[in-house]
Amino acid sequence: MNIRESLSQHVQNAMQKAGIPAKYGAALAPSKKAGFGDYQANGAMAAAKAMKTNPRELAQQIVDQLDLDGIAEKIEIAGPGFINIHLSPAWLAQQTTEALSDSRLGFNKADKAQTVVVDYSSPNLAKEMHVGHLRSSIIGDALVRTLEFQGHKVIRQNHVGDWGTQFGMLIAELEDQLKDGDVAEFALKDLEGFYQQSKKHFDADEDFAQRSRDYVVKLQSGDERVLELWAQFKKVSLKHSKDIYEQLNVTLTEADVRGESAYNDDLPNVLKDLKALGLAVESEGAQVVFLEELADKEGNPSPVIIQKQGGGFLYATSDLAALRYRASLSADRVMYFIDARQSLHMNQVFTLARKAKFVPENISLEHHAFGTMMGSDGKPFKTRSGGTVKLAELLDEAVERAATLIAEKDPDLTEEERVEVATKVGIGAVKYADLSKTRTNDYIFNWDSMLSFEGNTAPYLQYAYTRIKSIFRKAGIDASDLNNSITLETEPEKALALKLLQLPEVLEQVAREAYPHVLCNYLFDVASLFMKFYEACPILKEGVKPATRDSRLAIAAATAKTVQLGLDLLGIETMEKM
Ligand code: ARG
Repeated sequence: MNIRESLSQHVQNAMQKAGIPAKYGAALAPSKKAGFGDYQANGAMAAAKAMKTNPRELAQQIVDQLDLDGIAEKIEIAGPGFINIHLSPAWLAQQTTEALSDSRLGFNKADKAQTVVVDYSSPNLAKEMHVGHLRSSIIGDALVRTLEFQGHKVIRQNHVGDWGTQFGMLIAELEDQLKDGDVAEFALKDLEGFYQQSKKHFDADEDFAQRSRDYVVKLQSGDERVLELWAQFKKVSLKHSKDIYEQLNVTLTEADVRGESAYNDDLPNVLKDLKALGLAVESEGAQVVFLEELADKEGNPSPVIIQKQGGGFLYATSDLAALRYRASLSADRVMYFIDARQSLHMNQVFTLARKAKFVPENISLEHHAFGTMMGSDGKPFKTRSGGTVKLAELLDEAVERAATLIAEKDPDLTEEERVEVATKVGIGAVKYADLSKTRTNDYIFNWDSMLSFEGNTAPYLQYAYTRIKSIFRKAGIDASDLNNSITLETEPEKALALKLLQLPEVLEQVAREAYPHVLCNYLFDVASLFMKFYEACPILKEGVKPATRDSRLAIAAATAKTVQLGLDLLGIETMEKM
């Protein structure tokens, strides 16, 4: 149990002893302002209001029953009935010591491991990955890492777009290029260029266009030769995604790919079942479900097309089939990391899947939407000439920019170290800039701020980490040799220790709400409190008592471990030196 939960339970017990019905919670949270204790319980006010009594008096009755002996040094009532809890430094010191000797830093595995299906990244394979795929890939991966660390079973699903009419055109183009003697890997070296080329042929050459359309039909009816070309295309495109995931330090592998095409065989069944339930009806030659649940203001139901006129199935149809499949994996939660612009689509799919009983009620279906990455002009991020920015190029640029900075800042690094640092800082900066923003908002992509060594950035945290490492190098001490007996003598030490102990509650919140920025803000607080501690509390200076020195070294070691673990859960690497 984390500190917050444990205090919350203490307060809750006291409330019950004070005769307050169990439905009124402790409303306990870390105090926001200095001087108001470490944690604050605000539940007395709501309870008093409902019970029609005086809130301050009720707060006093709770405090009278509250037994925090050995945990808190002071409990006070403030304002209309806030209960402020000041934790005892000795207790905090002991907790910090315990957390420090635990490789998981006090973060227990969840009592009940869940099976969580996470749909993320999921690019369209017809084209090269572009900046539009960045957010889903890295936010989803941060969640996957956090959930796994919590002990849950995570099933990654890379729901790639590997089907649809554009593949007819791509296959026709591939066939032509292979006829000229190319091998697929070579012809598809520049996936984006290849797409443009085939689109040009499609628009200009009627024969080519007709052949493309034929290939769509052949693909759908399982023509072997066309399927073989399609498989070649898919293989090369997936290899491209794999390279990006490696460069981005995203944990997706080939084994996590289960694209739209995997559901082809089930699409007619989806339609059949929706018809049998009376949900899908014919409308202008298409098969459509009209959802009253999502009707607009005028009361027009929201249409979901299941099958087009002419027989083609749609994006929503494969998502319905995918949901059935995911439910069959005994999932407790299915999480989708997709752009907010697909919110209506997800809402339709979830509503319809529930209505058709494709997924049992107890499975939680969650669309974790995110905003758009914007350029400095406040419009969606584009190249100078207005094209989409390729992810591979963006990442290369990040590493290059970081390399320039590092060359200026640390001329003493070896060539090898420089490459390592530039890669980790460059990629880390791009990821952190994204992860540290509230996911649901749009955000402005800015090289200078993300690569800054000051402020809430990856380089700042990576630097804080190396700074602690250098303290140990300077002292010639191995952190694992410390006896980890911590005493909290001053306010900055206490503030830092308390922050370190809040890691478990932060991670639980991230896993629950899927907001990685909560972890980023926390790490930034940790690093900032460390800098304050470091300024105020000498460690290696002459005259510092050995016990104090060791305690401070242990606090520093705990900080380094926390920052490293936190960054790792965000998919960001640390280094020993920079
Ligand atoms: N391929 C889609 C796109 O690029 C994203 C797929 C997201 N996942 C899903 N199950 N619909 O927009």
